[in-house]
Amino acid sequence: MAEKVYIFDTTLRDGEQSAGVGFTIEDKVEIARQLAKMNVDIIEAGFPFSSPGDLEAVSLIAREVKGPVIAGLARANFDDVDACWQAVQRAETPRIHVFISASEIHMAHALRKNREDVVEMARAAVHRAAGYTSDVEFSPMDATRSDPQFVFDILQAAVEEGATTINIPDTVGYAIPQEFERLVRSVRERLPDHVRISVHCHNDLGMAVANSLAGVLGGARQVEGAINGIGERAGNTSIEEVIMAIKTRGDFLNMYTDVNTREIYQASRLVERISGMMLQPHKAIVGKNAFRHSSGIHQDGVLKLRETFEIMDPADIGVPVGDSIVLTKVSGRHGLRARIAALGVNLEADEFERVYEAFKDLADRRDEIDDRDLEAILAEQTSVQISEQWTLDLVQVSAGDHAAPTATVRLIGPDGAAHQDAAIGTGPVDAVYQAINRVMKVSNELTEFSVKSVTEGIDAQGEVSIRIEAEGETYSGRAADTDILVASARAYMHALNRYLNVVARRKAELTATR
Ligand code: KIV
Ligand code: ZN
Repeated sequence: MAEKVYIFDTTLRDGEQSAGVGFTIEDKVEIARQLAKMNVDIIEAGFPFSSPGDLEAVSLIAREVKGPVIAGLARANFDDVDACWQAVQRAETPRIHVFISASEIHMAHALRKNREDVVEMARAAVHRAAGYTSDVEFSPMDATRSDPQFVFDILQAAVEEGATTINIPDTVGYAIPQEFERLVRSVRERLPDHVRISVHCHNDLGMAVANSLAGVLGGARQVEGAINGIGERAGNTSIEEVIMAIKTRGDFLNMYTDVNTREIYQASRLVERISGMMLQPHKAIVGKNAFRHSSGIHQDGVLKLRETFEIMDPADIGVPVGDSIVLTKVSGRHGLRARIAALGVNLEADEFERVYEAFKDLADRRDEIDDRDLEAILAEQTSVQISEQWTLDLVQVSAGDHAAPTATVRLIGPDGAAHQDAAIGTGPVDAVYQAINRVMKVSNELTEFSVKSVTEGIDAQGEVSIRIEAEGETYSGRAADTDILVASARAYMHALNRYLNVVARRKAELTATR
């Protein structure tokens, strides 16, 4: 009989450890809600002791997001475990995930502890966690570069103290699938049956998904990973790839998950937009090209029978049918509403109005609007609405190869008045950003800027994603428009407004506690 593989999503914890990614509390709750809709089994919502903001985010998710187990990460010490419990205790099913390094290199140089100390720390922390909840996970960090006998000893100790899930992390993405399967199998054979074995792989050698599936073959029944594979360095296991591999190759693996795969695409787009980590077009499962066929032979085959060149049905992942032209200017509210419903998206009345306005605006400039355009509009207009403090009223740029690019912007400020200024830049986007800076006067550094087209053709919408750093924290922004300078300006203002929202919220909290 097929066995269930539990899906543990760590987008909000390990995923957030991607260089340059920083989620706000609102971002985290929005992603957690989508993960719950996707029906993952466990959401690792954060690392509560690491910052007051993370503690608050995990607490909020624990209170508000129902369905999945809500886990928090803790190092093997009482302060971490206590903070973790404080954050997760209001969840329907809370979990504490304790970890400590087990490899000689980590113990000697990062922890500066010997083996006996490390086992004692693991014992004490797991014991404390088990005093709070019966759902405790334990991870020996860097397990794949550790002495296997020491790994077994520390795992034995953790289980004796009450750990019910044992996770084998390939922390630095070092393992080879066959070797990892062997390690997982030997752990499985040594631990009691009631203990669930988990795997957590990083992608430094591009083998995170392969190693995770090898772990499943070795007896793991929980796989950890992040949406779009975001995470430290080369990232984590792409959890959507594992889910679809298990679904598609159930014949070989004899496993299943309880994930609602039709929510994968939405989750992927949400994480892409909020993290600002843009997907490569050929990314498996969720990339722009994942279900597109270029060669005539393939196109012909798919038209005759989809299965000739497609091993998965894009509808099973929730991918919109990209190439169908569905709407035009005359489609109106009725046509738009029907198409949105056909895409399986439910909108509140105010969300629909915003989407309709953006649709009309695009339809004034484009003859035909397909599902991918619509999806870009939906992503922008239905994300958690930040109380936009500044809005873009006008952007005008003069550029070329004979004079320095100059931009004029007019913004509507929080006071409701129009503020206009102009600036010269090294390029047209820089000129726009300098002009916005002159008006908004927010000290920040632009750390990432990327633009990609939503559809093909000269009149395609350009989707701009940016990241800025302000006061040591990262804020992302995103916008789509047929004019990439307009999209660039809106994306920048989106990020600046997010930052200003956080500043305003912190100020209000401070006033309230006085
Ligand atoms: O990669 C790793 O080892 C981790 C642990 C905290 C599980 O993320
Ligand atoms: Zn990790």
